Amino acid sequence: MRRKKIISVAIALFLIVSTAVIAANKPAKTKANKMPDNVHAIIKKSCFGCHNTNSQNEDAKEDLDFNKLEGLSKMQKIGAYKDIIDVVEENEMPPEKFVQKHADKKLTAAEKKTLIDWAKKEANALMKAKK
Ligand code: HEC
Repeated sequence: MRRKKIISVAIALFLIVSTAVIAANKPAKTKANKMPDNVHAIIKKSCFGCHNTNSQNEDAKEDLDFNKLEGLSKMQKIGAYKDIIDVVEENEMPPEKFVQKHADKKLTAAEKKTLIDWAKKEANALMKAKK
């Protein structure tokens, strides 16, 4: 009886430890994944095509690479969010030429507001954060 109990305790411990080890080895979910779904959908539709690591558009990815956003320093991130707010507010992005060809990628007023609100919130949170 006693022996059985020890074995089941040992099994339980093993399960707990191995789950913890597996969890620790999993790559931490990046913040990019935590981007709200609605924001992610807008960026994917209207921005990501040019602003990603594999983009052929060197100027675009040099200025802003959404794949690398999370790896930036705090100050760089704040700068990136501010730039995003600026270009969206001023209707500079997506570029006019691009929108003329792809009318469906133009940001609607609601999408602009969603993007701007999100970027402001992220920038504010970073500015308030101690580290
Ligand atoms: C068709 C390609 C394309 C798309 C789509 C696009 N961009 Fe850009 N973006 C560029 C290029 C090229 C530059 C760099 C040259 C320039 O400023 O025009 C740039 C520059 C930027 C910059 C830096 C501006 C600055 O003044 O430093 C930001 C921020 C930016 N884009 C955000 C966005 C956002 C947000 C979207 C989606 C709403 C978007 N872009 C969609 C091509 C694109």
